[in-house]
Amino acid sequence: MLTAYDYPTGEACSSNPNIDITLVGDSLAQVCLGYESTTQLTLAEMIHHSRAVARGTKHPLLVADMPFGTYHTSTSTAVGNAIRLIQEGNVDAVKVEGGSEITEIVRKLTSIGIPVMGHVGLLPQRHVALSGYKVQGRTAEDAKRVVQNALALEEAGAFSIVVEAVPKELGAFVTQQLRVPTIGIGAGPGTSGQVLVWDDAMGTWTGHKAKFVRRFADVRREWEKGVAGYASAVRDGTFPDGERESYRMEQGEWERFIG
Ligand code: KIV
Repeated sequence: MLTAYDYPTGEACSSNPNIDITLVGDSLAQVCLGYESTTQLTLAEMIHHSRAVARGTKHPLLVADMPFGTYHTSTSTAVGNAIRLIQEGNVDAVKVEGGSEITEIVRKLTSIGIPVMGHVGLLPQRHVALSGYKVQGRTAEDAKRVVQNALALEEAGAFSIVVEAVPKELGAFVTQQLRVPTIGIGAGPGTSGQVLVWDDAMGTWTGHKAKFVRRFADVRREWEKGVAGYASAVRDGTFPDGERESYRMEQGEWERFIG
């Protein structure tokens, strides 16, 4: 699984048959919209970006995060908002963060045919309550809580569960306990699948780089080279070229125009 936030990144995820799932993650808030955290992202923004990703998506299953606050106030609000993501955002499934406290919502959504992906371990939507973006499940009690939350989500009908920022032993253990696949991010190699944020993987994010991130490309360096090259070519007059990059008027037309 890889995240996407607009038409070109959606298309890029679709360009390789080995990507099974595209996630319009609420990391959209930071990497695309410049917010401080995911809690600032609205449902309208998520729908807007999901629609764009959907237009570029051909083969993979398309999942969108339900933004913070859109599934917490009541089950009926959660259902209404998930339906908006499906109908207006054109996604196939939704992802929600949490554990036993959200199983009623997961049960309701799956019972009416909305596939739900769960998310346990580090929950970025709760970064304030968790005192930051810290590895979860490091103590025996905390590890048990992560497993219980994953089992509760599976029991409620989640078709897959993201496991974020936990020790690798726990990532493998929780995967063995579940029947549904896990998708790890900072959870070691023992989960069923992996996910990375697009901008982390492609090297376009300049903020904090977590230990688990591997850069598979250095796209930022390429675009910085492009910006510098364009700006200096315009300033030194070598762009546009008068022949290769310019249009011409027929000789007769030009003379008629000049009069
Ligand atoms: O918002 C996000 O990008 C996520 C990660 C799991 C990739 O939820």
